[in-house]
This record gives sequence, structure tokens and C-alpha cells, in this order.
Amino acid sequence: MRYTPLSASTYIEHRARFRRHLDKGGLALFHSNDIMPTSADGTMPFKQATDILYLCGIDQEETILLLFPDALDPKDREILFVRETSPEIAIWEGHKFSQEEARELSGIANVQWTSAYEATLKRLVPQAAMLYLNSNEHLRQSNEVETRTDRMNAAVRRQFPLHEVRRSAPIMHRVRSRKTAEEVEQMRRAIAITGKAFERVCRFLKPGVMEYAVEAEITHEFIRNGSRGHAYTPIIASGFSACVLHYIDNDQACKDGDVILMDFGCEYGGYASDMTRCLPVNGRFTDRQRAVYNAVLRVKNEATKLLRPGTMLADYHKEVGKLMESELIGLGLLDKHDVAKQDPERPLYKKYFMHGTSHFIGLDVHDVGLWTEPIDEGMVFTVEPGIYIREENLGIRLENDVLVTKDGQDDLFKDIPVEAEAVEELMAAVRKEVEA
Ligand code: GLY
Ligand code: MN
Ligand code: MN
Repeated sequence: MRYTPLSASTYIEHRARFRRHLDKGGLALFHSNDIMPTSADGTMPFKQATDILYLCGIDQEETILLLFPDALDPKDREILFVRETSPEIAIWEGHKFSQEEARELSGIANVQWTSAYEATLKRLVPQAAMLYLNSNEHLRQSNEVETRTDRMNAAVRRQFPLHEVRRSAPIMHRVRSRKTAEEVEQMRRAIAITGKAFERVCRFLKPGVMEYAVEAEITHEFIRNGSRGHAYTPIIASGFSACVLHYIDNDQACKDGDVILMDFGCEYGGYASDMTRCLPVNGRFTDRQRAVYNAVLRVKNEATKLLRPGTMLADYHKEVGKLMESELIGLGLLDKHDVAKQDPERPLYKKYFMHGTSHFIGLDVHDVGLWTEPIDEGMVFTVEPGIYIREENLGIRLENDVLVTKDGQDDLFKDIPVEAEAVEELMAAVRKEVEA
């Protein structure tokens, strides 16, 4: 395994958190993702369903988790099904989990081969009062492709049409919102690697390098540190491209005098990090670039302080909008008289700052979470304001990941330079080293 997983005691705790929300007699089923086909005999790299990772840590296709806390026989209260391995599979595909390894990692005593799943359902579902089935209820999901979970859900509902069905997704969103200590540690590891990649880019960047060459430096640093790669497709956008919010072509040369916006983060052990930094390609910001940069930085710093237990995310986003409004007036991009007359439903700042400030982060980069309840201790959010000025070929976004604590917050990126002068100094220092 490339990474150190969480400990069995943490997976046991995660399952206990889920179980607390089950009604009496509930039987819950969780499935892995499919290995997605491309064409001919090609497949995409396997990406495990994050709920399975959260509940048992088994990063392997065809894994199924059954939780039935009120089962008559204690052995049936938690059952983990893993794909049966064989000498033939070992030759072609390499190592798969043995039952013993799966037991040790997950802390689940009863581990079966996946082939036993159907018979186990037949035996246990009649004992259950209701089924808890999972589905993707992320606010921005696009469920056009039928997932393995969808197929398995349909099959179990056909087989047991008279069982009441409940939704596991709201429970998972609740329990995954507040991170356990080991989850935060795993995120810190991901962030540390992302920070190393940032330093490497500072060493590498100069006028004329291609955006994809910057991307390659980042990828190299991720992989050599035990990450499996990017937590999401990186945005390496110099000059005007920084104003294209989801720019991922990364195919332009970085020009002298431009600023490059880089939104990247590695995944480590399944956990995401999500960072944005902006660098002057030639090592020094112009006065105007610095002014815009500092405006974004002030909003980021003030927004971070607002992420406190008890605050509603909707109110937080409104407050950040006001901070941004005043910075945009200061930069001469908005007129304060126009702002005074604006339609509050369509605030003028959205012309230059058109996306949200924060999202939950964890196993998924845009993690599931409780958007309509007060912020609470243990939640981790990004803070990522930006100003995009198309007519100036300039886009600045700064993004850190922040843990909400009992009294405030812990900025998980606090050791990674973000002030304009600090990143200039870092670029100058590492260049000296390169030249020496
Ligand atoms: N990198 C995706 C985001 O910042 O939300
Ligand atoms: Mn980002
Ligand atoms: Mn983000």
C-alpha cells in the first residue's frame, strides 16, 4: 500500500457514528464504485466510493459493507464482503485483500467473499424491519451514469419489494461533516505534500515555461511522496486563462509580466487537499497585480475568521460578499453609488467574483456536508475568494483549507506561504539555490 490508512479503531468509530442514526431493525448496504470502462478493453483508474472508504477503508473494487445492528446473531451485525482472490488473479492483477487483511484494516470480524453476498441477503433481509440504501445526494451530483450502487439498490428492491426503504445519504452527510482526529491528520499529510509541490513550482517557474510543464512538476512531487496524484484536475492558468474558472487545458506558455493561477491539491490515503496560489511568472508582481492580490488576501483572511461554530454558511457567504464588495470599490472596479442602488438578489460584485467562497472538503474535494445547519467544530472548509478581471488578463484566487475548532479555526495551510512578499521571496530564494 502506498499510504498509511486510518486505524481500525477510527473505522470502528465511523461505523458507530453511522449506526447511531439507524432506526430499530435497519439493515444498511454500501457498495463500491465500478471500474469504469473506456473503450476496447480499457478502463479508467479505479476510484473507490468514498462512503466505503469512510466506513471500512477497503480501497478495492466489489467490496460490500452490510450493517445490521439488531441482527439476532452478533456475527451478522457487521459483515464485510471482499472480492475473492486467487493465484490466477494474483498473477494478472497483483495483490488483493485477504480476508485476514481486510479484517485487520477495517476492524470487522466477519469478512466474507463477495460471492456470499446474495445468499446472505436472502438470509438476513427477512429479519430486517427496513433497508437503508445509499445514493449520491451531493448538491452538485450529475447522476447520468448508473452506478454499481444504483444497480444493487434496484436488485435488492426487486427481490424484497415490500421492505420499507430509507436513505443513508443524509446520515452519511451528517457524520462525514465532522472529521475525526485521524481524518484531519490524513488531510494534513495531503496538505504537506501539496506544499512541497508549491515550493517546487516556485523553483521551476520562469517566463517561457509551458503550463503543462508546471503541472508535471506538481505531479512528480505528489507521486514521489506517496500520493496517488491529484485530488482533482489541476488548473494551471496563466494570464487571461486565470479568468476561465474551470480552465484545465494547461497548454499555454507562461509569459513575462503575467500572473499564473494554480489550483491544485494532492490526495493522500483517499483524502483531498485543495489549494490555490498565484505567482508572478517573472518573480515580481506589478503594483496593480499586488493591489488585486492583497485585496483577495484580505478577504481570505477575514473570511477565515468568520468560519466559527454557530455561523450559518448562507450568512457567511453573504458577509464575504460584503467584504469583496468593499475591496472591489477600493480597486476602482465597482462604483460605490452603483453598489448602493444594486439589486440585492444580483449583487454587482458577482461580475468579478462569481463563485462560492467555501465548500466542505474531506474524502471528496467537494465533500458532502450539512449546508443548512450551523457550522460546527471538526468541519473542514476551503476558503477561496477570487477576483477575475478579464479586461486586465488577471485572475487572482487564494485558497486554503481550514479546520473549524471549538473557539475558532485552524488554518491547515498556515505553513505554506501566501503573502505576496512571501511568495516573491520564496521564488527569489529558491532561484538563487538553482543558480548556485
Ligand atoms: N479545485 C476545486 C475548487 O477549488 O473547488
Ligand atoms: Mn481549488
Ligand atoms: Mn475549492
